[in-house]
Amino acid sequence: MNTADDRNKKVVAVVTGSSSGIGFETSLALAKNGFVTYATMRNLGKSNKIIELKQKKKLPLEVLKLDVTDDKSIKEAIEKIANEQQGTIDVLVNNAGYGLLGPLEELSIQEFKEQFEANVFGVIRVIQEILPIMRKQRHGTIVNISSVAGRIGFPLTSAYVSSKFALEGLSESIAYELEPFGINVILVEPGVIKTNFDSNLKIGKNVSTTTATTTTSDRNSPYADITEKRIAAFKPRFENASPPIEVAKVILNVITSKNVQPGSRYLVGNDAFKLMEIRKNKSDKEFRRLVM
Ligand SMILES: NC(=O)c1ccc[n+]([C@@H]2O[C@H](COP(=O)([O-])OP(=O)(O)OC[C@H]3O[C@@H](n4cnc5c(N)ncnc54)[C@H](OP(=O)(O)O)[C@@H]3O)[C@@H](O)[C@H]2O)c1
Repeated sequence: MNTADDRNKKVVAVVTGSSSGIGFETSLALAKNGFVTYATMRNLGKSNKIIELKQKKKLPLEVLKLDVTDDKSIKEAIEKIANEQQGTIDVLVNNAGYGLLGPLEELSIQEFKEQFEANVFGVIRVIQEILPIMRKQRHGTIVNISSVAGRIGFPLTSAYVSSKFALEGLSESIAYELEPFGINVILVEPGVIKTNFDSNLKIGKNVSTTTATTTTSDRNSPYADITEKRIAAFKPRFENASPPIEVAKVILNVITSKNVQPGSRYLVGNDAFKLMEIRKNKSDKEFRRLVM
């Protein structure tokens, strides 16, 4: 596993979605630990805080524009990094993503596609662009930020959950094909983490709720009650959630450890461990009752 512990060797890391939350903290944690870190984000207007910290702490961190839904922006960013780093990229953290909420019947195909564009195809695009570099150098670590929702389904989250399940299957499969090239693929599965995830949460345009500001209320919707209940329960979960630095620490440990098995999964947060434990010990029927 490539690490910044090889003190004389520069180790280059790329993180997507670094404007806030887990990506922001991961970029800072990597840079503080000696990784030459490219904190990428789709909107450079959100880079002030990380640039300020970089300057204050003299960190080896660069901010670059990268929108995971835009082929050209990915190509340009990765080419720039490869040119600046003599063709080397050691670590990729696929973090960019968001949640879409709503009952499947009230979500449009377009909204589903957009969810997969960011959370799944975005990851595929960045990996495809970086693989020739990692394969040539015959090493690399790819960390995919999944979720407990990549292991367990919940009501009203079919779009998000299916995108994270897809990411899990993708990661598990490519871990086999990339291992012979010295490339390790890892899944990180946080529970609820206190980031901008809840404020960035999208609620489908046709989803009926009185709580969402962006949507209209339709009490005649067959899903009105469950939607109200779930949305009301969603935000409070973030109030006492684990801080994003917890995820960053796990990522840092994983990429600096010599003993990580390809394809390994890492839960983050007490809620994540508890939930997976409960899931393991309950029948499908018992677990369903608990979730409802
Ligand atoms: N927070 C949680 O409870 C939780 C739990 C499990 C997994 N996760 C996963 O953790 C990852 C990071 O989320 P977070 O919790 O840190 O939320 P966050 O604070 O909302 O950060 C999400 C990041 O992804 C970026 N992003 C969204 N779409 C993008 C695109 N098309 N191209 C590039 N960047 C894009 C956002 O950029 P903008 O600022 O421009 O929107 C932001 O930088 C996500 O994959 C999420 O699914 C979060």
